[in-house]
Amino acid sequence: MLLVTLWSSLLALTAQGVAQDYGTSPPVYPSPPSTGIGWEVAFTQAQAFVSNLTLEEKAQLVTGTEGPCVGNIGGIPRVGFDGLCLQDGPLAIRQATYASVFPAGLTAAASWDRGLIYLRGLFLGAEFKGKGSHVALGPVVGPLGRSAYGGRGWESFSPDPYLTGVAAENTIWGMQRSGVQACLKHYIGNEQETHRNPALSPNGTTIEAVSSNIDDRTMHELYLWPFAHGVRAGTASIMCSYNRLNGSYGCQNSKTLNGLLKTELGFQGYVMSDWQATHAGVHAIKAGLDMDMPGSIGGLQNTSFFGGNVTRAIKNGTLDQDRLDDMARRIMTPYFYLNQNEYPPVDKTEPTLNSNYPPYDHPFTFGASNVDVRNGHGQLIRDIAAAGTVLLKNTNDALPLKAPKTLGVFGNDAGDLVNGQYFLTSAFQNPFGYEYGTLPIAGGSGTGRLSYLVSPLEALKARAALDGTLVQYILNNNLLTQPSGLGAIVPVPEVCLVFLKSWASEGSDRASLEADWDSSAVVSSVAAYCNNTVVITHSAGLNVMPWANNPNVTAILAAHLPGQESGNAIVDILYGTVNPSGKLPYTIALSESDYRFSDITNSTKLLETEDPNAWQSNFTEGLLIDYRHFDYYNKSVLYEFGFGLSYTTFDMFDLSTDMPNTTINPLPDSLPIAPGGNPSLWQIACTVNVTVMNTGDVAGAAVPQLYLSFPPIPSPMPTPLNVLRGFDKIWLEPSESQTASFLLTRRDLSYWNVETQEWVIPIGAFEVTVGFSSRDLWLKGQLTVTERD
Ligand code: BGC
Repeated sequence: MLLVTLWSSLLALTAQGVAQDYGTSPPVYPSPPSTGIGWEVAFTQAQAFVSNLTLEEKAQLVTGTEGPCVGNIGGIPRVGFDGLCLQDGPLAIRQATYASVFPAGLTAAASWDRGLIYLRGLFLGAEFKGKGSHVALGPVVGPLGRSAYGGRGWESFSPDPYLTGVAAENTIWGMQRSGVQACLKHYIGNEQETHRNPALSPNGTTIEAVSSNIDDRTMHELYLWPFAHGVRAGTASIMCSYNRLNGSYGCQNSKTLNGLLKTELGFQGYVMSDWQATHAGVHAIKAGLDMDMPGSIGGLQNTSFFGGNVTRAIKNGTLDQDRLDDMARRIMTPYFYLNQNEYPPVDKTEPTLNSNYPPYDHPFTFGASNVDVRNGHGQLIRDIAAAGTVLLKNTNDALPLKAPKTLGVFGNDAGDLVNGQYFLTSAFQNPFGYEYGTLPIAGGSGTGRLSYLVSPLEALKARAALDGTLVQYILNNNLLTQPSGLGAIVPVPEVCLVFLKSWASEGSDRASLEADWDSSAVVSSVAAYCNNTVVITHSAGLNVMPWANNPNVTAILAAHLPGQESGNAIVDILYGTVNPSGKLPYTIALSESDYRFSDITNSTKLLETEDPNAWQSNFTEGLLIDYRHFDYYNKSVLYEFGFGLSYTTFDMFDLSTDMPNTTINPLPDSLPIAPGGNPSLWQIACTVNVTVMNTGDVAGAAVPQLYLSFPPIPSPMPTPLNVLRGFDKIWLEPSESQTASFLLTRRDLSYWNVETQEWVIPIGAFEVTVGFSSRDLWLKGQLTVTERD
């Protein structure tokens, strides 16, 4: 038991009721100009560059145009500026040839490995740079994952803001270290695909996009939290989202852009719109939007909310010159900071990959075609894919495989692709994607063009051959669910591997949380035939697993979206070359209905509405999403957040704390706000240490996790019982032990006080627990915060 005394951060705290700012976005004007803090030299260069531009050139710099990339800023040859090439996305340079397809954000998060996540960002960044793309449109932290049905949750990391924040900052550090600008997206409240954009009613009324209505505390403690990490990590840009937020569009909401992002978080880069997410010119600019993408309205050439309207607005006085200069400086500062004035030219192949062919309105400089930027990244991709695979069940050490005599491989997710290697749109126009072929990544703008794919079956055949194992397979789910569908499999395999998949794609939300293609019936059939059935899921999000307790299902692996090395990575885990160390970055509930606490706004009635404001999504669950919900309501789950087995076992002991000498004073607000917000928030308030030991026979990595339980908080809304506030990934040889240290910042110990509009460390006793999952907590300590004299 440890006892630590911290001074309270604010005197004014009493148990009085606190006024809620639920679901409103009060106006915040004017737009705060950047000061270049943290990027001083580049800021001066940007200042000099911008002061040299004509009004028309400045307008051009803030307005997207047609070009070779998915987003383009035209060059200005007069001043030696080649323009900007913006490309998707979070797991690959999406359209490019000879580029790598990395594991999805979800997989990276499941690794809980800062180092691997950083390297993923670094290598991704190098590929963008090699192709002459200045801005990588990723990483994604919005959606955060409010709803398990969200169609883009897999592009992002985890519904836990702490894990997502850490993953985002490491990705951004890596990407920008390679010299490419990161674009953290989608800001903010972009938690569903359904109704994400306005639409016409049956009678021709414009029904505005869904409004995510989020109260102030939830905004800060949940949805804004990872963006703060990203801003602090120095993300060059932020993409505002399609949805409305408390009634106003994400790209013209002055509270979220001018207020939260540019004032409170001190963001120094630029805000770009999502594609066609701009709905106004001057109004959006005044609210904080700096760059309009792709620049045209509804894809119609020579139309724009920006462009000529910006010059006109300056000339007629509706817009201040200072604001335009600020927009241009915000765009050019990261460009100079990352030395992009010396940058590889755009791969000449790119134009053929886009719908907009040259000639363009603005000149672009092209380099060689088909530049191969893969540079041996396949090994890292394989490592992350294996590290992001979670072992959920392993009865009687069914895994790792021990040179089985016969192996069965089943399911339409096991084999090679048959419909092509690029899933931009749901080309197959099917909510479940394509029927045959494994799912390495999912669809939409967050996809990638596979230059090769190692399927599970291919890798398994190669590995099984080393042991002389007989491999038999059936990949047709329809056949597998027929009576005697497995009749061709003789003899009954020693081990049967069933591969399941769940598709998702930008533009629509998931219809079901069970794996697709009659997956449960497939598992039942195989398990009825084979009493040693191992189920592997490839999934764009979480799955419920109604078959998990079937006694013939002896092992389960959630392999997420592994990228191009899918088969090799799963073989590494199945055969024990890699000891599984992935942990769930979400909760697997007992049944699908358990996730209905944060429904996606969608009903037939709403689709027939004539009310322009009908699409409203009230985030009434507040802070209680994912494990916070299940813990608060004391619900049993199948596999909890943070859970994952290993081929070895671990012990944990000796919880201690190392308090720095500093006492906790009120947050000094005289400091200039730096990227990430008040710098004092990021000060270490206390350190917690535990020792972890490998008590098994094989080497492996443990992921000790620290959860914090707050003292009573004077807020009318429920506070989660436990929140993740630290984790580490430690590699241990058998019998080896090591200390894990968790550094708790002031922000980690604070809640957002809506009345004082400040982060506050509450008075009272915090409970600190450390364990191997959110429900497997081994050690307990206490931190007591007392009122200041
Ligand atoms: C997506 C963005 C993407 C952009 C450009 C939009 O539809 O929401 O994530 O970066 O398209 O492809």
